[in-house]
Parts: sequence; C-alpha cells; structure tokens
Amino acid sequence: MSTDLSLNNGVRLPALGFGVFQTPPEETAVAVEEALRVGYRLIDTAAAYGNERGVGEGIRRSGLARDDIFVETKVWISDYGYNETLHAFEKAVGKLGVDQLDLLILHQPLPSEFDLTIDAYRALETLLADGKVRAIGVSNFLPDHLDRLLDATTVVPAVNQIEVHPYFRNTELLEKDDKLGILSQAWSPIGGITFYPGWGDDDRRSTLEDPTLVEIATAHGKTTAQVMLRWHLQQGRQAIPKSVSPTRIAENFDIFDFTLTDAELASIDTLDTGARGGPEPEAITRAAWGREIPEA
Ligand SMILES: NC(=O)c1ccc[n+]([C@@H]2O[C@H](COP(=O)([O-])OP(=O)(O)OC[C@H]3O[C@@H](n4cnc5c(N)ncnc54)[C@H](OP(=O)(O)O)[C@@H]3O)[C@@H](O)[C@H]2O)c1
Repeated sequence: MSTDLSLNNGVRLPALGFGVFQTPPEETAVAVEEALRVGYRLIDTAAAYGNERGVGEGIRRSGLARDDIFVETKVWISDYGYNETLHAFEKAVGKLGVDQLDLLILHQPLPSEFDLTIDAYRALETLLADGKVRAIGVSNFLPDHLDRLLDATTVVPAVNQIEVHPYFRNTELLEKDDKLGILSQAWSPIGGITFYPGWGDDDRRSTLEDPTLVEIATAHGKTTAQVMLRWHLQQGRQAIPKSVSPTRIAENFDIFDFTLTDAELASIDTLDTGARGGPEPEAITRAAWGREIPEA
C-alpha cells in the first residue's frame, strides 16, 4: 500500500490527510499546526467551514515549506457561476494566505440548477489552465451528476470527495469514480457523521463501537478509528479524518505499522447499511443551503 497517491493529471498527494469540518475558527490554527507537526501533509478545508484563515495560520506556524503541504479547499454553492467561482478562488487564497491551491473542488452539485454547477466547474477549468490550482474536482457528486458534468466540460475531475465509512460504503459511487479515473476521497472516514456530538438521536450507532471493528482492532492492538483508516487506504481511497485533540490527531496518523487481511477488509465491507448520514445530494438547493461566504 502506497502512502502517496497519483491524481489523473499526475499530481501526487498523501493518502492520509487532515480535515477541519466543525473545527472552530479559533482552534483551527492550533489543530493544523499539530497535524503538520505529527506528519500529515494534506489539509482539507472549505469556504463553508469558516476556518480557512486558521488553516493558513497553522501552515505558516508549522515552518514547513509551502510546497511540502497539499492544500485543498471547496467552493460553496452560493458562489457558483463562472465569475462568482473565479472570485471564490480569490476569497479562498486571500484567507489561506497562499498564491496557489493544490486542489479546488465544488462542495456540492446543485442538481436543480445544474447549469450553474457547470459554469462553476468551467471556472475551475480556467483556474487550472492558468496555473492557479494544480488540480480540480468535485464533492458529493452522484454517478448521474458526474455523467452530466463530463458531457458539458473538458477536464475529468481529479477527485470526488464523498461520504464513505463502514456504515455507508457507497460502493456504486466508488466504482463509478474508479471507472472514470477519479480518486475517491472519503469524508467522515471514521464515521464521524454516525456520532458527531450534538447531532442526531441518542440511539445512533457509532462506527467507533462497532463489534466487528472492535474485534479487528483488538486483534491488531489498534483502535477502531485506526482500523477504519487502514480499510480506506488499503482499498485505494484517500481519507481525511478530523480531530481537534492532539492525542487523536496522532492516533489517526499512526496507521502505517499494521496491515488488515483480505478477510478483515471483506468483513468491514459487510457492515454497510446503505444509508447515508449526510444530506441527500439530489436535495441540495441554494434556497435551503445557500449562505454568503465573506470576502477575504
Ligand atoms: N465534502 C463534504 O461534504 C464533507 C462532509 C463532511 C466532512 N468533510 C471533510 O471530511 C473531514 C472528516 O470528516 P468528519 O469530520 O465528518 O468525520 P471523521 O473524521 O470521520 O470524524 C470526526 C469526529 O471523530 C472524532 N474523532 C477523531 N478522531 C477520533 C479517534 N481517533 N477516536 C475517537 N473519535 C475521534 C472527532 O472529534 P475530536 O475533534 O474531538 O477528536 C470528530 O467528532 C472533515 O473534517 C472535512 O474536512 C467533507
């Protein structure tokens, strides 16, 4: 298993990255600095997370060279449209304090306004051609959205960032991404959406406590989070776990000293419930989900 992956345009990126969804803006610089200290070299943020400034600050505090860090962010739906998305790039790099992004992706499809989604993607193609971003991609696109996008545009997305964890393996979409040469990047890779504090009911089942995962983790002297991350990487996916805790940031990076067997990988695959935790991509509209992304 390689610790590095190649995108369809030859750009390389670490298989294990670091996410900052729900990381409070004032805690983001500390979390990112700690992640970079531990060894992560890919940071995934988004305009909609409101913490791009903190990500930039954490990168600067790390003392690492800009080229040694893969910086990824996402355009929110309120900024879709050709000129609007070009401007969203300016907002993002202004907040992050960088000149170039390694990966810029559309956060969601807008199925009911797909022309606007295509205009936004055309802006990403321009940014790529101009060397302002090294790779472009999408997030939460279903197979049909990918087909419609490919029909109307030129550059095949390098990445589709999608919900994947043992309780929602998203197999059909993973196969679609593979077929098109798109790298699947797993969000909620340790099943965060099955147990985020303060979300949902008390009767939620947390992937962290799944008996099959506990058994596999015990056999390897590892944690269930570490087992889930290995499962992604051994199946060729990129994963971006989030944490604000130094202990868990380190735990989630300490996954390169054990290997899951084929039987263990297969038994984790059987945990799939087929039910996504996140919003149904078909139902995302600007009316319901739009909100202004501040200027840099
Ligand atoms: N494109 C999208 O629509 C989308 C949607 C969701 C997420 N994402 C991206 O994917 C990243 C990861 O997904 P996620 O944040 O949803 O979920 P996740 O990484 O699967 O899980 C994060 C949750 O798990 C806790 N945690 C982290 N490590 C742990 C460990 N070793 N043991 C126990 N608990 C642990 C975290 O709390 P503490 O912080 O307290 O450790 C947090 O509550 C996000 O940060 C974001 O970058 C993208």
